[in-house]
This record gives sequence, C-alpha cells and structure tokens, in this order.
Amino acid sequence: MAIVETIAGIYRLINKAAPSRGPGDYPQLATVDAAGVARTRLVILRGFDAPQRRVWVCTNVFAKKVAQLTDHTTAEMTLWLARPRVQLRLLCTWQIARAETADPALQRLRDEEWQRQSPYAKVLYHWPAGTQDPAEVLARLPSPQQAEALPMPVGYCLLVGTITRIDALQLTRPLHHRWVYEWDAVNNAWQGARRLP
Ligand SMILES: Cc1cc2nc3c(=O)[nH]c(=O)nc-3n(C[C@H](O)[C@H](O)[C@H](O)COP(=O)(O)O)c2cc1C
Repeated sequence: MAIVETIAGIYRLINKAAPSRGPGDYPQLATVDAAGVARTRLVILRGFDAPQRRVWVCTNVFAKKVAQLTDHTTAEMTLWLARPRVQLRLLCTWQIARAETADPALQRLRDEEWQRQSPYAKVLYHWPAGTQDPAEVLARLPSPQQAEALPMPVGYCLLVGTITRIDALQLTRPLHHRWVYEWDAVNNAWQGARRLP
C-alpha cells in the first residue's frame, strides 16, 4: 500500500519532515501579495502537532510574508520527501504568534520554539531597523552570548498553520498515487479520496 493512502502514513511523513534537517528538506511557503501576485520562499519547518493539525515556522514580524499571511490567512506550504518520493501540499489557515498575541497556547509554542533556536539564530532577531550597512548592523547586534541572556525580541514570531487540506502525490512506478484529504469540521475527521495524478 502506498504511504499516501492513509492519513496515518501522511502524518508519519510530516513528522519526519519536521524539523527540516538540511538541503533538500526545506519546504516552500506560498503567499499572495497586495498586488495579487503569488510569492514563494523556502522556510524551515520547525514542528508538527498532529492532534492540532498544526505546523509552524519561525520568522521576523517585519518579513513580507507576515503581512501577506495577515491579509490572506489561507496559504499553502509544499514539502518534498526525497526517499518515499512524496510531495505534500498542505493548505493551512495561518495565525501569527507574536509578542502581543493573547492566545496562551500560541504564546507557549512561540516561547518553546525560541528556547530551541541556536544562539546565532537568536542574534538575527535583533537586526536593527533603518540601516543597510553591514558594518553598522554588526556593531549594533548583540553577541550570541548576549542574545542568550536577552528576553525574546519583539521581532521574533511564529507562523502557525492549521492544516485544512492535504494533497499527497507519491511518484511510484508504474503508477503515481495521488490522494487528497479535506478536513471535515462537522465530523472532526479527514475525508480522503484517490485522485488522478
Ligand atoms: C534554506 C533556507 C531556509 C530558510 N528558512 C527560513 C525560515 O525558516 N524563516 C524565514 O523567515 N525565512 C527563511 N528563509 C529566508 C526566506 O526564504 C526569505 O528569503 C525571507 O524570509 C524573506 O521572505 P519574505 O520577504 O517573503 O517574507 C530561508 C531561506 C533559505 C534559503
């Protein structure tokens, strides 16, 4: 049986993909900008919570994708799992967990993910605004040791996506397998069906 034929198999794949480990593992996150243009970029998938159907990504509140996901909260993230040769397209409803977010669960996730960031990654969230001069940026950034001791910077946020649709394509021979799952909020269950590739 192809792994994409069950939601349990797909959850195993997402668990394997989170956190992203290195080259070839980075998912793409698509958004729509203010002019209606589709924009994509690589991100690091930080985690997956199967019962909540949640995935999350760390970013800077000033990144364009944050404004784009605030305006258009539904957006797709695409994962490629090289060994089973599977593409997963996760359509999600996105929330931003930032300093002023009231939801305690989101705030806890933001905090836990901050603790897992490397000291070097923490430094980058203190990037000063208003300069493009690398020497000035370096002079104003804290050292990794200083960054460890500082509180979570306001620039640090999490993009938290709740998965509502999964399009799973497995490139097997002689036939490819494609399954599409829709979240059925009334029955609290996934409804899946095979589709033509
Ligand atoms: C391998 C790789 C991983 C990346 N991971 C992230 C990430 O987890 N979060 C992030 O904000 N940007 C990440 N970036 C940078 C983004 O691709 C993008 O350039 C940046 O976030 C600005 O995007 P935006 O202006 O559309 O918001 C990564 C880039 C690369 C090449």
